[in-house]
Amino acid sequence: MSILRGEEGPLNPMTSLNRQITLASRPVGLPKVSDFQLAYTVLPLPAAGQMLVRSVYLSLDPHMRDGMSAEPSSGGSVAIGEVMPGRAVGVVVESNDASIRAGDTVEGMFGWQEFAVARAVDARKLDPEAAPITTALGVLGMPGLTAYFGLLDVCNPQPGETVVVSGAAGAIGMLAGQIAKIKGCRVVGVSGPDTKVAWLRDELGFDAAITHTGATELGDQLREACPAGIDIFFDNVGGAIGDAVIRLINVRARIAVCGQSARYDLNTPEVGPRWLIQLFVKQARAEGFLVSSYLDRFPEARQQLATWLKAGRLKYREDVAQGLESAPQAFIELLQGRNEGKRLVQLSDLLAGSASSSRNARG
Ligand SMILES: NC(=O)c1ccc[n+]([C@@H]2O[C@H](COP(=O)([O-])OP(=O)(O)OC[C@H]3O[C@@H](n4cnc5c(N)ncnc54)[C@H](OP(=O)(O)O)[C@@H]3O)[C@@H](O)[C@H]2O)c1
Repeated sequence: MSILRGEEGPLNPMTSLNRQITLASRPVGLPKVSDFQLAYTVLPLPAAGQMLVRSVYLSLDPHMRDGMSAEPSSGGSVAIGEVMPGRAVGVVVESNDASIRAGDTVEGMFGWQEFAVARAVDARKLDPEAAPITTALGVLGMPGLTAYFGLLDVCNPQPGETVVVSGAAGAIGMLAGQIAKIKGCRVVGVSGPDTKVAWLRDELGFDAAITHTGATELGDQLREACPAGIDIFFDNVGGAIGDAVIRLINVRARIAVCGQSARYDLNTPEVGPRWLIQLFVKQARAEGFLVSSYLDRFPEARQQLATWLKAGRLKYREDVAQGLESAPQAFIELLQGRNEGKRLVQLSDLLAGSASSSRNARG
């Protein structure tokens, strides 16, 4: 990663410097650290209706890889030289909007940078006393909401049904599986290394967890873990895992296509088994969904997730890298499945008292 120095005005690291990670080049396949750039710019000033936020935790999410593939005018989400987009939790330094005050804790689309100017109306005010602030990026944030609506609305789980979750130890998968348990289902998680598989089974209470990286064929493991077939598939990954699961679905099965992590860094889409016949023969339904389409029901979902969290019915794990400059490598590892829980980057020591205890810190 190269370092770019801003040209606007004098740089004073104590008072006016902002550090950002920008996109240096469009990745081919798995991104490289050199596809990113550490840039220094002068702190922006908030205009009317805006606030200046100092970010404390940044969320890294696999779908950002998809957004890096093209210019915004062609369906991508970031232009070359622009700050990488991303959600973060931070503290308001200065506000020019009556609804937010300096010192408030907020969550919003603040990007991969230490300070951000954002419209107050686009941010969510948090109560740091109510829950660890990182939960606003995990169980009580976008991953929790995605798991909630994807499982409950798209799949309508019934007690006794068998639910398979891919990417089961990830930010969304771990919650989708636990919500399915709350609804009385038999839950089987598909994940990578043995450590994640053991965690799903032994700590999260999944009925079974299997690995897609071991020597035993995934289909054989799935048949053993799902003796009554598969009624619901919550798919975060797609690819070969999706192909193996779909072969075993039951009549009237429901498939929530939440994400396709196996696809994001492929330049050329793979041609996999053509399994639409399974939908026809099993009279099954596969439905893609975007959490953003449930915006008006976010309060209802957050309330329910917070209740389950408080009651100890939802557990979570965070995987926290340190410092803005670690974000590119931490993101690349996320795309390789090397995260253990919700991947975050800690950008500042502010609000250290509201950190979660469910985390793996990475240097
Ligand atoms: N529908 C929506 O509105 C919505 C919203 C947000 C995110 N999403 C999508 O939901 C999915 C899960 O997101 P998340 O934040 O919870 O991510 P995550 O699960 O924390 O991380 C991705 C995981 O996918 C697994 N994986 C398996 N095979 C993979 C492969 N070939 N390439 C890359 N990863 C592979 C890895 O876990 P293992 O190694 O353990 O298998 C990896 O840890 C993503 O696809 C994301 O784009 C959807």
